[in-house]
Amino acid sequence: MNGSFEVASVEETWEVARRLAAELGPGDVVCLEGDLGAGKTTFVQGMAAAMGVGGRVISPTFCLVSEHRGGGRLLVHMDLYRLRGEDDVLSVGWEDYLAEGAVLAVEWPDRAGSLIPANARRVRISAPSGAGERRTIEIA
Ligand SMILES: Nc1ncnc2c1ncn2[C@@H]1O[C@H](COP(=O)(O)OP(=O)(O)OP(=O)(O)O)[C@@H](O)[C@H]1O
Ligand SMILES: [Mg+2]
Repeated sequence: MNGSFEVASVEETWEVARRLAAELGPGDVVCLEGDLGAGKTTFVQGMAAAMGVGGRVISPTFCLVSEHRGGGRLLVHMDLYRLRGEDDVLSVGWEDYLAEGAVLAVEWPDRAGSLIPANARRVRISAPSGAGERRTIEIA
Protein backbone atom coordinates (compact mmCIF):
# COMPACT_ATOMS: atom_id res chain seq x y z
CA MET A 1 0.00 0.00 0.00
CA ASN A 2 1.13 3.49 -0.81
CA GLY A 3 -0.53 6.84 -0.60
CA SER A 4 -2.08 9.31 1.76
CA PHE A 5 -4.67 8.27 4.34
CA GLU A 6 -6.86 10.56 6.41
CA VAL A 7 -7.71 9.04 9.77
CA ALA A 8 -10.04 10.35 12.46
CA SER A 9 -9.19 8.15 15.43
CA VAL A 10 -6.55 5.91 16.98
CA GLU A 11 -8.56 2.93 15.72
CA GLU A 12 -8.27 4.18 12.14
CA THR A 13 -4.53 4.69 12.60
CA TRP A 14 -4.34 1.05 13.73
CA GLU A 15 -6.24 -0.03 10.63
CA VAL A 16 -3.71 1.69 8.35
CA ALA A 17 -0.91 0.10 10.38
CA ARG A 18 -2.54 -3.30 9.98
CA ARG A 19 -2.65 -2.94 6.20
CA LEU A 20 1.03 -1.99 6.05
CA ALA A 21 2.04 -4.77 8.47
CA ALA A 22 0.37 -7.32 6.21
CA GLU A 23 2.96 -6.50 3.53
CA LEU A 24 6.02 -6.87 5.75
CA GLY A 25 8.43 -9.74 6.17
CA PRO A 26 11.75 -10.55 7.82
CA GLY A 27 14.36 -7.83 7.47
CA ASP A 28 11.95 -5.09 6.47
CA VAL A 29 12.52 -1.62 7.89
CA VAL A 30 9.73 0.89 8.47
CA CYS A 31 10.79 4.50 9.07
CA LEU A 32 8.32 6.60 11.06
CA GLU A 33 8.47 10.34 10.70
CA GLY A 34 6.44 13.09 12.29
CA ASP A 35 6.56 15.60 15.10
CA LEU A 36 6.58 14.75 18.79
CA GLY A 37 3.23 13.26 19.66
CA ALA A 38 2.13 12.81 16.04
CA GLY A 39 1.31 9.15 16.62
CA LYS A 40 4.40 7.19 15.57
CA THR A 41 4.42 4.92 18.61
CA THR A 42 0.66 4.47 18.31
CA PHE A 43 1.18 3.31 14.72
CA VAL A 44 3.76 0.75 15.89
CA GLN A 45 1.27 -0.52 18.49
CA GLY A 46 -1.12 -1.17 15.62
CA MET A 47 1.59 -3.00 13.69
CA ALA A 48 2.34 -5.16 16.73
CA ALA A 49 -1.29 -6.11 17.19
CA ALA A 50 -1.62 -6.96 13.50
CA MET A 51 1.53 -9.10 13.54
CA GLY A 52 0.31 -11.02 16.55
CA VAL A 53 3.36 -10.06 18.54
CA GLY A 54 1.23 -8.52 21.26
CA GLY A 55 2.77 -6.87 24.25
CA ARG A 56 2.85 -3.23 24.99
CA VAL A 57 5.04 -0.93 22.95
CA ILE A 58 6.60 1.22 25.59
CA SER A 59 7.16 4.90 25.03
CA PRO A 60 10.77 5.51 24.05
CA THR A 61 11.17 8.03 26.81
CA PHE A 62 11.53 4.97 29.00
CA CYS A 63 12.87 2.45 26.56
CA LEU A 64 14.98 2.95 23.45
CA VAL A 65 14.37 -0.49 21.99
CA SER A 66 11.47 -2.80 22.65
CA GLU A 67 11.17 -6.31 21.28
CA HIS A 68 7.84 -7.90 20.52
CA ARG A 69 7.77 -11.61 19.85
CA GLY A 70 4.99 -13.98 19.03
CA GLY A 71 4.20 -16.80 16.65
CA GLY A 72 7.80 -16.97 15.51
CA ARG A 73 7.79 -13.31 14.47
CA LEU A 74 9.77 -10.42 15.88
CA LEU A 75 8.94 -6.76 15.71
CA VAL A 76 11.59 -4.42 17.07
CA HIS A 77 10.54 -0.88 17.84
CA MET A 78 13.40 1.60 18.08
CA ASP A 79 13.24 5.24 19.03
CA LEU A 80 16.54 6.75 18.01
CA TYR A 81 15.74 10.27 19.21
CA ARG A 82 18.53 10.34 21.77
CA LEU A 83 21.17 8.71 19.59
CA ARG A 84 23.78 10.64 17.71
CA GLY A 85 24.64 8.58 14.70
CA GLU A 86 25.30 5.26 13.05
CA ASP A 87 27.77 3.99 15.66
CA ASP A 88 25.17 4.47 18.40
CA VAL A 89 22.56 2.73 16.27
CA LEU A 90 24.83 -0.23 15.63
CA SER A 91 25.49 -0.50 19.36
CA VAL A 92 21.80 -1.15 20.08
CA GLY A 93 21.89 -4.24 17.88
CA TRP A 94 20.67 -3.01 14.51
CA GLU A 95 22.49 -5.61 12.42
CA ASP A 96 21.77 -8.45 14.83
CA TYR A 97 18.05 -7.78 14.71
CA LEU A 98 18.04 -7.72 10.91
CA ALA A 99 20.08 -10.92 10.77
CA GLU A 100 17.51 -12.47 13.10
CA GLY A 101 14.76 -11.63 10.64
CA ALA A 102 13.09 -8.89 12.61
CA VAL A 103 10.83 -6.23 11.22
CA LEU A 104 12.31 -2.93 12.42
CA ALA A 105 10.01 0.02 13.12
CA VAL A 106 12.17 3.08 13.61
CA GLU A 107 11.29 6.50 14.98
CA TRP A 108 13.75 9.32 14.15
CA PRO A 109 15.42 7.26 11.39
CA ASP A 110 17.69 10.13 10.36
CA ARG A 111 19.96 9.04 13.24
CA ALA A 112 20.60 5.76 11.41
CA GLY A 113 21.92 7.47 8.27
CA SER A 114 23.07 5.03 5.64
CA LEU A 115 22.02 2.03 7.75
CA ILE A 116 18.49 2.57 6.47
CA PRO A 117 18.09 0.28 3.44
CA ALA A 118 17.02 1.75 0.13
CA ASN A 119 13.84 -0.32 0.16
CA ALA A 120 12.71 0.87 3.61
CA ARG A 121 9.04 1.79 3.90
CA ARG A 122 8.31 5.38 4.94
CA VAL A 123 5.44 6.41 7.17
CA ARG A 124 4.95 10.13 7.75
CA ILE A 125 2.28 11.20 10.19
CA SER A 126 1.07 14.77 10.49
CA ALA A 127 -1.22 16.04 13.18
CA PRO A 128 -2.38 19.59 12.54
CA SER A 129 -2.80 21.51 15.79
CA GLY A 130 -6.42 21.62 16.92
CA ALA A 131 -7.34 18.67 14.74
CA GLY A 132 -8.25 16.38 17.63
CA GLU A 133 -7.64 12.80 16.64
CA ARG A 134 -7.42 13.54 12.93
CA ARG A 135 -4.15 12.70 11.30
CA THR A 136 -2.74 12.36 7.81
CA ILE A 137 -0.63 9.27 7.27
CA GLU A 138 1.51 9.15 4.14
CA ILE A 139 2.97 5.79 3.22
CA ALA A 140 5.68 5.22 0.66
N1 LIG B 1 -5.51 9.28 15.01
C1 LIG B 1 -4.55 9.12 15.93
N2 LIG B 1 -3.46 8.37 15.65
C2 LIG B 1 -2.47 8.22 16.54
N3 LIG B 1 -2.46 8.79 17.78
C3 LIG B 1 -3.50 9.55 18.10
C4 LIG B 1 -4.58 9.75 17.19
N4 LIG B 1 -5.46 10.56 17.80
C5 LIG B 1 -4.98 10.84 19.00
N5 LIG B 1 -3.81 10.24 19.21
C6 LIG B 1 -3.04 10.34 20.46
O1 LIG B 1 -1.85 11.06 20.18
C7 LIG B 1 -0.79 10.54 20.97
C8 LIG B 1 0.33 10.06 20.07
O2 LIG B 1 1.41 9.66 20.87
P1 LIG B 1 2.59 8.77 20.31
O3 LIG B 1 3.41 8.40 21.49
O4 LIG B 1 2.03 7.69 19.45
O5 LIG B 1 3.35 9.80 19.39
P2 LIG B 1 4.83 9.76 18.84
O6 LIG B 1 4.78 10.34 17.48
O7 LIG B 1 5.39 8.40 18.98
O8 LIG B 1 5.57 10.76 19.84
P3 LIG B 1 7.14 10.88 20.21
O9 LIG B 1 7.78 11.70 19.14
O10 LIG B 1 7.12 11.59 21.52
O11 LIG B 1 7.71 9.49 20.29
C9 LIG B 1 -1.37 9.40 21.81
O12 LIG B 1 -1.73 9.91 23.07
C10 LIG B 1 -2.61 9.00 21.01
O13 LIG B 1 -3.63 8.45 21.83
MG1 LIG C 1 7.06 7.69 19.87
